[in-house]
Amino acid sequence: MTEQPAAARPGSRARPTAASPADAIRLGEVSTDPSATRFGTGIDEFDFVLGGGTVPGSIVLIGGEPGIGKSTLLLQVAARLESAGRSTLYVSGEESPRQVRMRGERLEEDTSPVAFLAATELDSILAAAERSSPSVMFIDSVQTIHSADVDSAAGSVSQVRECAARLQLWAKARDVTVFLVGHVTKDGSVAGPRTLEHIVDTVLYFEGAPGMDHRILRATKNRFGSVDEIGVFHMTGAGLVPVKDASAVFLAGRRAGVSGSAVAAAIEGSRPVLVEVQALCTRTSYGAPQRVANGFDRQRLALILAVLEKRAGMPFGTLDVFVNVAGGARLVEPAADLAVALALASSALDRAASESAVFAGEIGLGGEVRPIGLVDRRLSEAARLGFRTAFVPEGTRPTSGIGVRGCVDIRSAIDEALS
Ligand code: TYD
Ligand code: MG
Repeated sequence: MTEQPAAARPGSRARPTAASPADAIRLGEVSTDPSATRFGTGIDEFDFVLGGGTVPGSIVLIGGEPGIGKSTLLLQVAARLESAGRSTLYVSGEESPRQVRMRGERLEEDTSPVAFLAATELDSILAAAERSSPSVMFIDSVQTIHSADVDSAAGSVSQVRECAARLQLWAKARDVTVFLVGHVTKDGSVAGPRTLEHIVDTVLYFEGAPGMDHRILRATKNRFGSVDEIGVFHMTGAGLVPVKDASAVFLAGRRAGVSGSAVAAAIEGSRPVLVEVQALCTRTSYGAPQRVANGFDRQRLALILAVLEKRAGMPFGTLDVFVNVAGGARLVEPAADLAVALALASSALDRAASESAVFAGEIGLGGEVRPIGLVDRRLSEAARLGFRTAFVPEGTRPTSGIGVRGCVDIRSAIDEALS
């Protein structure tokens, strides 16, 4: 016989610690020195996306499609933490110790010190965690664990919410960082309709592009850092390896002298990246013309098409239009407009832009090219990668290493870039 703590009753979870009754404290008494508490995981790209390492007591959700590499990444993180002397507990409800051990053998990191638990019941998981008191706990995945307090099946919205909420309280009370794996459902949300996003502190998405071996880790919510940061990894035979040069990944496979391609000098979070935008405009064969955008907002595409039609005299009314941002990147900032417009014009006119040109500028409804932020960083990244001309808004200060061509409006930009 073994002693087991009794399962918490429903309703008792509102009082998880012994520190009741609750006492208010002055905010000034709260220590805010982040370096005192935050710690790195040893995988730089991962720490970067987290906002500079993990915060004790926080709960981080990692979403992604099955097979993208969530378990691999977290096992690597666990091994790195162990080798840095931090105790971990890796809980899997999906895989046996043997499966995880076999995955671990492929990795560069030594996974043998990682404490592993195959369990699905939340109370027994928390009891095991109380015994081993890890400083970081991994739950793989939130859909496979269940709480006995809730009647519904594991993976249901009420189970997932209950488990995440209890883990959240437990993590805060014990100052343990919890990483939760969440499988993404078909419509792209984690565990149902955004069930977890507001419970956890940080939401990371792990994404890949079909047929490519690089993976993009993206923060979409972060209470301890900025969102929209990305980290890029390569999936290799020995686990995930951080990619130092994201631009090179996004530009890989670019063909020179082909129409319908333009390179955007973009900013992802705080980092400059160069991304290829491809467009294809073909005659509509039946019905209404198609507008398909991958990695770019469709509404924004419609706006750019309308501006091209009205201000540059390019008719798209009888053309199907496809826009693709290469390498699985996503362009969300208005500064990407100019590259998208140039790719569209290049395809429609069947004239290629110079392969050594990059584009950055927001397009206004009047067809004007509007000023953008962080121009210096965009241009230095382009110069570093050997680009020679940058088409940017008029009035941009020149940067060394790259020629700057100021564009007043979309029509003159097309005339100059596609001459
Ligand atoms: P996994 O981490 O199991 O994905 P998830 O937990 O997101 O479902 O990763 C599975 C894929 O990664 C699988 O197709 C095999 C591949 N892989 C490698 O290519 N190299 C490796 O070193 C490892 C461990 C996995
Ligand atoms: Mg997995």
